[in-house]
Amino acid sequence: MAQALLQTPSPLLPTQGAPRQAAWNAKPPHLAFEAFEGLAPEPDSAQAPVPALADPSVFDEITAGLLQQPATISPKYFYDQLGSELFESITRLPEYYPTRTEHAVMQQHAAAIADAVGHGRTLIELGAGNCEKARTLCRTLAPACFVGVDISADFLHDAVARMREEFPGMDARAVGADMTRGVTLPADIPRTGRLVFYPGSSIGNFDPPHALMLLEQMRDLVDGEGEPHANGGLLIGIDLPKDVDVLEAAYDDAAGVTAAFNLNVLTHVNRLIGSNFDPAQWRHLAFFNTLQSRIEMHLQAMSPLQVRWQGGGVRDFAAGECIHTENSYKYTLPVFTDMLARAGFSRAQAWTDPRGWFAVVHAQP
Ligand SMILES: C[S@@+](CC[C@H](N)C(=O)[O-])C[C@H]1O[C@@H](n2cnc3c(N)ncnc32)[C@H](O)[C@@H]1O
Repeated sequence: MAQALLQTPSPLLPTQGAPRQAAWNAKPPHLAFEAFEGLAPEPDSAQAPVPALADPSVFDEITAGLLQQPATISPKYFYDQLGSELFESITRLPEYYPTRTEHAVMQQHAAAIADAVGHGRTLIELGAGNCEKARTLCRTLAPACFVGVDISADFLHDAVARMREEFPGMDARAVGADMTRGVTLPADIPRTGRLVFYPGSSIGNFDPPHALMLLEQMRDLVDGEGEPHANGGLLIGIDLPKDVDVLEAAYDDAAGVTAAFNLNVLTHVNRLIGSNFDPAQWRHLAFFNTLQSRIEMHLQAMSPLQVRWQGGGVRDFAAGECIHTENSYKYTLPVFTDMLARAGFSRAQAWTDPRGWFAVVHAQP
């Protein structure tokens, strides 16, 4: 599903019809998941005492999504420690073109990008993950300060520690936070000269109204939260529309890593709400929704089943019923620059790869 900027599921969230069956994995995804079975949930976890449930707003958000018709789980819950590691593995798969294409665009146009964004800034990466792309940027931009923000806090802290080793003169900070609840930076982060970096086409995980709201929040950060002459900018990665086979393969790889990544959300949710999802009862589904110009990922129940969670919550699923776990919108450049303009970015410049698969866009208020 699209990530929501609001704590409760929004009426703006799209609904979708029954997904058509496409691009199944060669081997059943739950077999791919077995590679990580040491981290699989206890079958009876709804009965067992739950040591550390999520805070109440997370609990409410997840359970509200599970009770929706169709059920949804926000893609932000993919990212526990294992989810972050699985995503890192996805970026190295032959089918997953976005990471290597974006990286190639950034390297090929490094000098032009550096000229446009300027040196010595405060670099703020949202959804920073392993910070690999920021590392590439830091080599050319030499920012005075780097702030990585990510919901997967432990994974981020390790990545930022590696940044400190590589760039000892740079002030590198890690902020573990859910950016859809607003980003609060440490008070001593300079308000001028900020460059917000949002790579990986993660903006595509939000449906368009929420993507617009998020871009507006980024404009506020770039504006130094009201600082006059803030002189900030946004550098953002956009996955462009392309051949459906290329798109579907990227979200349904032959080795089953994306399937394992999708299924892992159930294990994470079990920990957060004390539920008893058994990932072996679900399979990964990914397809391109042409009408909405987005990849959709779902988890499909392979038999009729019941899921229970702490506090007495229960949801029955029929065989074939799905939980919508992710959207990834593919925007054309004109559509995306129009959205940037509506979010208050009046100037934009874009670089793409020779095939026109991915764009890196610099935007200023
Ligand atoms: C698709 S990965 C991209 C990682 C990295 N930026 C890249 O380009 O390779 C999305 C990243 O955003 C983080 N993330 C997802 N939802 C988030 C949220 N609501 N708040 C903060 N971080 C989030 C994930 O933990 C993950 O590291």
